[in-house]
Amino acid sequence: MTSFFHELRQTNSGVLLRISAIAAIGGLLFGYDTGVISGALLYIKDDLHAGTQAQQWIVSTLLLGAILGAVLSGYLADRISRKYTKVISGIVYVIGALGCAFAVNVPMLIGFRFVLGLSVGTASFVAPLYISEVSPPRIRGGLVSFNQLAITSGILLSYLVNFAFKDAANNWRWMLGVAVIPGAALAIGMLTVPHTPRWLMEQHREDDARGVLQKLREGDGKDSDVDGEIDEIKDAAKSERSSKLGDLFHGRLRPLLWIGLGLAIFQQFVGINTVIYYAPTILADTGLTKSASITQTVFVGVTNVVFTVVAVLLLDRVGRRKLLLTGTVGLTIALAVLGVYFTSRTLQQQAGWLALVALLVYIASFAIGLGPVFWLMISEIYPTGVRSKAMSVATVANWAANFVVAVTFLSLGQAITRQGTFFLYTGIGVVAFLFFLSRVPETSNRSLEDIQQELTAPRS
Ligand code: GLC
Repeated sequence: MTSFFHELRQTNSGVLLRISAIAAIGGLLFGYDTGVISGALLYIKDDLHAGTQAQQWIVSTLLLGAILGAVLSGYLADRISRKYTKVISGIVYVIGALGCAFAVNVPMLIGFRFVLGLSVGTASFVAPLYISEVSPPRIRGGLVSFNQLAITSGILLSYLVNFAFKDAANNWRWMLGVAVIPGAALAIGMLTVPHTPRWLMEQHREDDARGVLQKLREGDGKDSDVDGEIDEIKDAAKSERSSKLGDLFHGRLRPLLWIGLGLAIFQQFVGINTVIYYAPTILADTGLTKSASITQTVFVGVTNVVFTVVAVLLLDRVGRRKLLLTGTVGLTIALAVLGVYFTSRTLQQQAGWLALVALLVYIASFAIGLGPVFWLMISEIYPTGVRSKAMSVATVANWAANFVVAVTFLSLGQAITRQGTFFLYTGIGVVAFLFFLSRVPETSNRSLEDIQQELTAPRS
């Protein structure tokens, strides 16, 4: 447990921690937005006279914006750098949040939710990309997962902000507007951090790259071999000069595309965001009052954060693959229990606590595995030359899958019942497990270049 902190102390932890934390504000924006809208919607619908259709659009245009944001920023991250892409993402977020807070009608709100989405989609992958490219291998898992920690903290923060403002005048405007603060913090903070050494090398700015690495690895007993690291980046770049985005689709990089897409799609298809969005509804269905189910939802948020901290501490020690597989088993069992619970009248009458326990086990299992591991792995497995574009492909798939799940959950419930929906997610959990077992490699404690060499080596 102590190993992450121990290793961190051995590196130039002050600088690394500071810049990783700033980059992870992107995750906070992502999570805040995911969580805040469910509460705000309750008031928006009365205030702006939004019908069911309009409400659905208010929620889902953000997801559409995020898909587009993830597409565009793959190019931006290469062109203008990871750093400046994140500065822009912060500025766009501020504009989006202000626009939402001051929206006078539904179309204006929907339009600005789309703008927010552009920023969230960008932030969702440039943050892990940036952090993975500045981290030393031994603690890369923990540092990159700061981003997932920021996402889950953002979700929890939004639950608390919703709670705090629920009786205020203009409550939903405050809920949506408060996000201006982290948005501005991201834009300003990113101006103070360095470019990543790998991006600098791509720009043929070797001296600058060396300078940044020296600063980042200062005082680091084991990783102070900056020249070695530069050579490794150079070698990898040479052998990748030829890798184009096209190789991902029909070349030697194709297996990597499948790993990224599989993690992206399964991460959403096990139903995580239905729980994040609808936890109060699911709990209310077990017979709890509205107020009790909102309170219990806070447990869900806290469990998510706590187990993400556990993941940060364990990812570099236990390894990504073990946590991914264990977490997937746990969440699949929890989904099956939820299915059985909603099938059995006796259980519902006599064991109301079982639904809450299953939800918490589900969240905890997601938080130690699939949640952080997807974002981490896509920042590790691709060669530098195509990394940002390939990550953006995986991120687009993730947001698209998020969108599909969000718009089908309620109608699935009507078509195949609530328990049917949970059993469907259980089935997806089983398939996901088999896919991870057969395809996903271990990446902990290895340099990015070493991982790529193994994954792209011709198979004998
Ligand atoms: C992951 C997912 C995101 C989800 C979050 C919940 O980051 O990508 O969609 O909301 O975990 O913790």
